[in-house]
Amino acid sequence: MRRYHTGNDFRRAQSIAELAAMARRRLPYFAWEYLDGGAEDELTLRRNRQAFAELSLLPQTLVPCATPDLRRPLFGGTLPLPMAIAPSGYNGMLYRDADLHLARAAGERGLPFSLSTVSTSSLEEVAAAAPDTELWFQLYCLRDPGIQDDLLRRAEAVGCRTLLLTSDAVLLGNREWDRRNFVRPQQLSWRNKFDVLRHPRWLLQALWPQGLPQMANLAPYLPAERRNAAGAAQFIGQQMDTELDWNALARLRQRWPHRLLLKGVLAATDARRCAELGLDGVVVSNHGGRQLDGAPASLDCLPAVAEAVKGRLAILLDSGIRRGSDILKACALGADAVLLGRATLYGVALGGAAGAAHALDLLHQELRLALALLGRRSLAEVNGDCLLRSAPASLLPTGDVHP
Ligand code: LAC
Repeated sequence: MRRYHTGNDFRRAQSIAELAAMARRRLPYFAWEYLDGGAEDELTLRRNRQAFAELSLLPQTLVPCATPDLRRPLFGGTLPLPMAIAPSGYNGMLYRDADLHLARAAGERGLPFSLSTVSTSSLEEVAAAAPDTELWFQLYCLRDPGIQDDLLRRAEAVGCRTLLLTSDAVLLGNREWDRRNFVRPQQLSWRNKFDVLRHPRWLLQALWPQGLPQMANLAPYLPAERRNAAGAAQFIGQQMDTELDWNALARLRQRWPHRLLLKGVLAATDARRCAELGLDGVVVSNHGGRQLDGAPASLDCLPAVAEAVKGRLAILLDSGIRRGSDILKACALGADAVLLGRATLYGVALGGAAGAAHALDLLHQELRLALALLGRRSLAEVNGDCLLRSAPASLLPTGDVHP
């Protein structure tokens, strides 16, 4: 295994894997497991990384392309890089106001930031703190149509024009660490409380003095006495609409006149139905390996989805992006862009906006170099011809895959 530097200066981290190693040291174990863990045996979590390792990039030689064009058309506009920040819940547990920091870091680079329904900063707070950032909103379908409609109204009011409906987490995956670390919702076990005391920097930065952050988007819908982390967790558990189906998606299509994407698509037939319903895109995703353990790697599902809907729908991919070359591989298999979850969360956990920016900049530099070394002048030239399926999974660097 490569030796990573052991200091606390995230700016010296040379890769996302090194940021992850540092974040692991900084966070108390329960928060680290929440960030980095997957469901059950973490087969899907590992597979997400293995799928990238099993694809080789086949360079074309003698092509002068030292500064390749990394821009990517998306939704009628152009992204400077084929990436955006993925929605993830409860980021404030990693770093105070983490959503605001992520939004700023993304916006400064012209990249969209996606806010989760179960975020710890509200839509309004993010829009005020990062007014120039393109804000996307992730929706969980809620049982109370009035609340769901109000969330959509608030998203529209702050200028959000891209909605990602998450379809793969109606029931939460089997995350054993969650049950081990908490005795009740939001109530840490004694062992974890002790571990928290061993992380004073995190304790002061993220937790002191207000305690665990609340789910800010949901606060208006909670009675005053339940406006805390435990109350919000209970609320979302009760509100998650387990009847979510294609009819609900069709109704949402009617209600939301702006861009609508379904996040959690793995099967090509589902992608085709999204196109038939007039959606604007799909996110090929297995929720970072946190839901159905045994689900295929997102990357392995991408070719069939691309064959089914490429050109009709935008195709985004998440789950497992840790290198610029991973982004190239996703683009080669048909993704228009990737969503970054853990990669930027490691950064924000270490240093707020500067940490998230460092993660984005590492990926940017790696992507630029990989594309140049691949002998392509622009991302538009990246397609299946750039790939060989050959490298065995054993080529994965030690430490890159979860134990
Ligand atoms: C999770 C939910 C919040 O994966 O999306 O933890």
